[in-house]
Amino acid sequence: MSFSFAPDGVDPAVVPSRTTHRGDRMPALGVGTFGSDHVDPQDMAAAVRDALAAGYRHIDCARVYKNEAEIGVVLNEVLSSGLLIREDLWITGKLWNDMHGPGEVLVSLAETLRDLRLDYVDLFLIHWPVPNHHPPGVDIYARDEDSRSYIHEEFMSVWRQMERVADAGLARHIGTSNMTVPKMKLLLRDCRVKPAVNEMELHPHFQQPEFFDLCNANGIIPVGYSPLGSPNRPERDTTPEDTVVMDDPVVLRIANAHGIHPASVCLKWAVQRGQVPIPMSTKRKNLLSNLKAIVEDPLTDEEMTALAAVDRNGRLIKGHVFLWPGAVSWEDLWDVGGEITR
Ligand SMILES: NC(=O)c1ccc[n+]([C@@H]2O[C@H](COP(=O)([O-])OP(=O)(O)OC[C@H]3O[C@@H](n4cnc5c(N)ncnc54)[C@H](OP(=O)(O)O)[C@@H]3O)[C@@H](O)[C@H]2O)c1
Repeated sequence: MSFSFAPDGVDPAVVPSRTTHRGDRMPALGVGTFGSDHVDPQDMAAAVRDALAAGYRHIDCARVYKNEAEIGVVLNEVLSSGLLIREDLWITGKLWNDMHGPGEVLVSLAETLRDLRLDYVDLFLIHWPVPNHHPPGVDIYARDEDSRSYIHEEFMSVWRQMERVADAGLARHIGTSNMTVPKMKLLLRDCRVKPAVNEMELHPHFQQPEFFDLCNANGIIPVGYSPLGSPNRPERDTTPEDTVVMDDPVVLRIANAHGIHPASVCLKWAVQRGQVPIPMSTKRKNLLSNLKAIVEDPLTDEEMTALAAVDRNGRLIKGHVFLWPGAVSWEDLWDVGGEITR
């Protein structure tokens, strides 16, 4: 099947973008590729293809999602079609937690580039600031036997490797994910190359205002994951106290007023607030409506103010599986007291 643009798609030229500290333009909406342990890699690759046909140009990938090879086939097909060139695309990759050792950043990025069939990524992120990892599909009680709390010197040795792959041009930008305010302050103090992006959970019920402001004040673009509240997230990332973002009464009221789906409200809010949401969908209809949401019918100031007030500090992706012996609760991973928890 040859690649072609969808006749009902969105012109990428009208999609807003954010300018990075080196002057590149990152589309203000990306498409996620984490299948939450239940989406087949071929189906995720087909969704990426649909997304590109619909007008998306920003794709959020990761080694641990185990679908880079399938997505690479699609990227190769799209770029071979002549309809798009590499510079039209923003591709993000992420270093998984089991590759934090000496020399492993380059090895992991090389594997990502091979599988995605690219010469460089636009952004390479350290997926989590700790080396604790787990195989796909585990439950909430799974723990890595060698897991440990954050050790700044170890993290900086990974960041130094990230700086070198950026120097070599294999990643046009480097960045972080799942950080906290105190960890980011230490990184900003000690880095040579600043993070261009921080990928963090962001949706109306979890707005992280202090961290969001810290990123913006330092020229770091906040990319928001799980922007719809990740309704199909893995079982290990669900707890009884979790809230459902798309059922929030304020979100529903605004959706009714505009005659749109609550997902569209979450995405309009995200882009108008100044973050870059990366919603995932395997459905063509949802991919298209998510992209259309950010180019038409903006929210009013009153609606933006009302949505700012629904924040519940409701983190959904808590990261239980990354806890270390001695950690008391998932909150230890997130330095909720303002100091790094060990
Ligand atoms: N850095 C990190 O540690 C990290 C962590 C989590 C996620 N991420 C990234 O962020 C991306 C997005 O996060 P996420 O996948 O957790 O959650 P999400 O984007 O908030 O939610 C995705 C779910 O919402 C549904 N959906 C999408 N559009 C919809 C619409 N218009 N109407 C109704 N339902 C809709 C999708 O189902 P359908 O397929 O049925 O549309 C999908 O199951 C991931 O794919 C991944 O790339 C990064």
